[in-house]
Amino acid sequence: MRRPFVCGNWKMNQSLTLTRDFFTALGRESVPSHVQLGIAPVALHVTTAVAATNDQTVEIGVQDCHASESGAHTGDLSAVMARESGATFAIVGHSERRQNHKETSEVVAAKARAAQAAGLTAIVCVGETLAERQANQTLDIVSAQVNGSLDGVDRSQVVIAYEPVWAIGTGEVATPEQAQEVHAAIRQQLGADRANIRILYGGSVKPANASELLSCEDIDGALVGGASLDATSFAAIARAAPASAEA
Ligand code: PGA
Repeated sequence: MRRPFVCGNWKMNQSLTLTRDFFTALGRESVPSHVQLGIAPVALHVTTAVAATNDQTVEIGVQDCHASESGAHTGDLSAVMARESGATFAIVGHSERRQNHKETSEVVAAKARAAQAAGLTAIVCVGETLAERQANQTLDIVSAQVNGSLDGVDRSQVVIAYEPVWAIGTGEVATPEQAQEVHAAIRQQLGADRANIRILYGGSVKPANASELLSCEDIDGALVGGASLDATSFAAIARAAPASAEA
């Protein structure tokens, strides 16, 4: 059984006040206990978010971490520091990091290993661009990213997020068939560990499309950007997750 996981990625959004307000508002929403919830605010707000969750069962994570524990890396933060601040997971290899910060799958794997060494769950993101999809390269690209980004990574502490780049922040969502096809291919590739590893879908997930996506056999949750900024829509997405994803 794979417990559904609905995780918000706030990117560079939400002030300190809005961060606190979000958790107050989420406390008024009904959220199902069978779903694991996570929010990755900006790293500066992690401690505030951890305090604001009170006893709500929402895990707080970071959107990135460095592969080293400490050192001369201006502007970066380490997984150990994230853990000390109360984070329990780290998103690594988001396409915005791969594109804007030229992160290769090799770098992403090093970050995932560092996250795990610090006691964090690593959420490893993969996904093809529009040009790659149009050139029929989706499965090859994603397969290469999964392969490279999981190098040396402990598969018992990893979550994979399939996020087609063309669906992120565009309002254009993959159809359940398109998403399921890639999720199934990723699962196939995971070999002996395939039954237990959760694979999340990300890219313009919102309350209106969450149910059909989350009902797909190999979709075990969602990584949500824009729609996670509002507690009501985030909770609605969580409620759309079916009671259990069978292994
Ligand atoms: P979106 O972002 O839901 O705003 O498309 C998803 C993501 O980038 O994780």
